[in-house]
Amino acid sequence: MGVIPKDFLLGAATAAYQIEGAAHEDGRGPSIWDTFSHTPGRTWNGDTGDVAADHYNRLDADLDLMQSLGLEAYRFSISWPRVQPGARGSLNAKGVAFYSRLVDGLLARGIRPVATLYHWDLPQELEDAGGWPARDTAERFAEYAARTVEVLGDRVAMWTTLNEPWCSAFLGYGAGAHAPGRTNGAAALAAMHHLNLAHGLAVPEIRRAARNSPEVSATLNFHVPRPGSDDAEEAVRRIDALANRSFTEPILRGDYPDDLLLDTAGVTDWAFVRDGDLAKIAAPIDVLGVNYYSTVTVKEWDGRSPRVGNDGHGAASGSPWPGSEHVEFLPQPGPQTDMGWNIAPDALEELLLRLARDYPGTPLLITENGAAFPDVVVDGRVRDSARQDFIERHLAATIRAREAGVDVRGYLVWSLMDNFEWGYGYSKRFGIVRVDYDTQERIVKDSGRRYAELIQTRSL
Ligand code: FCB
Repeated sequence: MGVIPKDFLLGAATAAYQIEGAAHEDGRGPSIWDTFSHTPGRTWNGDTGDVAADHYNRLDADLDLMQSLGLEAYRFSISWPRVQPGARGSLNAKGVAFYSRLVDGLLARGIRPVATLYHWDLPQELEDAGGWPARDTAERFAEYAARTVEVLGDRVAMWTTLNEPWCSAFLGYGAGAHAPGRTNGAAALAAMHHLNLAHGLAVPEIRRAARNSPEVSATLNFHVPRPGSDDAEEAVRRIDALANRSFTEPILRGDYPDDLLLDTAGVTDWAFVRDGDLAKIAAPIDVLGVNYYSTVTVKEWDGRSPRVGNDGHGAASGSPWPGSEHVEFLPQPGPQTDMGWNIAPDALEELLLRLARDYPGTPLLITENGAAFPDVVVDGRVRDSARQDFIERHLAATIRAREAGVDVRGYLVWSLMDNFEWGYGYSKRFGIVRVDYDTQERIVKDSGRRYAELIQTRSL
């Protein structure tokens, strides 16, 4: 039995493209995920976010659902092409009105609004102009952030600039598994830098435009690499550099790691980094958002046997590991979730301890953690004990880290409801609430009931 401290925030997370639907309503423009999902062969079953969980049209009922679960915080993302279609000029009043209603609805129910400004849905027009490998995209993001915070920044408790920029850069421009589906290592590294820059340029804009002194954060997805052989130290170091330190070091320390520069020297000359960029990227933040799902096991490929690539990011034509394509990702030991990701709560505890050690003074918040399982509905009920167990064990690991002195402020489960899981379409269900995509009926799963109980009793 563990005790969840009273001031430890418990909530749930979603993202705009994954739940909202209403892709063509009220002036929303196209994003790279509309284009990508509508391109044959890019997503499972050709699924798109056109309708998703229809959250845009079911806002009030979904807010009531959050209240019935007793959520203390709700992390959502703002769709850039909904509030600023085409990424130019003044905001779309109808798009803003939706998020304004969402924020007001949360506050009226006593739920803290945690708003992410970018969860992967880049306006298509910006991709057409070069996308994240183009420097101008960072400037445009900062402008969009400023305008958005001007209209919502009297009520939002926490702003997050970017969600998982690693995925945007390396899955989007390197592997091609995510939108926009490009496969160019140099472009991926340029995208990485411009995402870091976008974050750094947006932070002061958010502080300037807000009228309620919100917390400002970025959310990173951490890879926890394990050695897959006796001599895997170098492979672990390389993946840690590309996956983790490529963002934590510039954002929290104002520099790119030397080893990352060396590892990628054959891919790019890094000319995209200009004088003054790193100081901007290191603008102080109040909280670091941590997304954690599983570990990876790596080793150097021997160059002879077929190379294995179980990095958890699915099959793709390109690589998300520019300059380190020779690192092998070995199959993960079980047990695993429906994503094929291994279940390792201890690694979350280890990660939190490491972040506290390497970046002291940076408060942490688990902004995503959760699991997909193939749920079944029996007599109107979803007995998802595996998901319940997953959440309880990861929450316990987080509390252990906190008891060991890590300043971790809360835990937001991914996800409030089943949704469009990017390249996997609707084949993977992460919700603590089930969504029936034919009827849009919501059913609180057993994991959701248990989560509500945890929030209330605060004992694990
Ligand atoms: C994360 C994403 C989130 C969701 C989960 C399963 O990488 O931020 O949108 O897809 O994975």
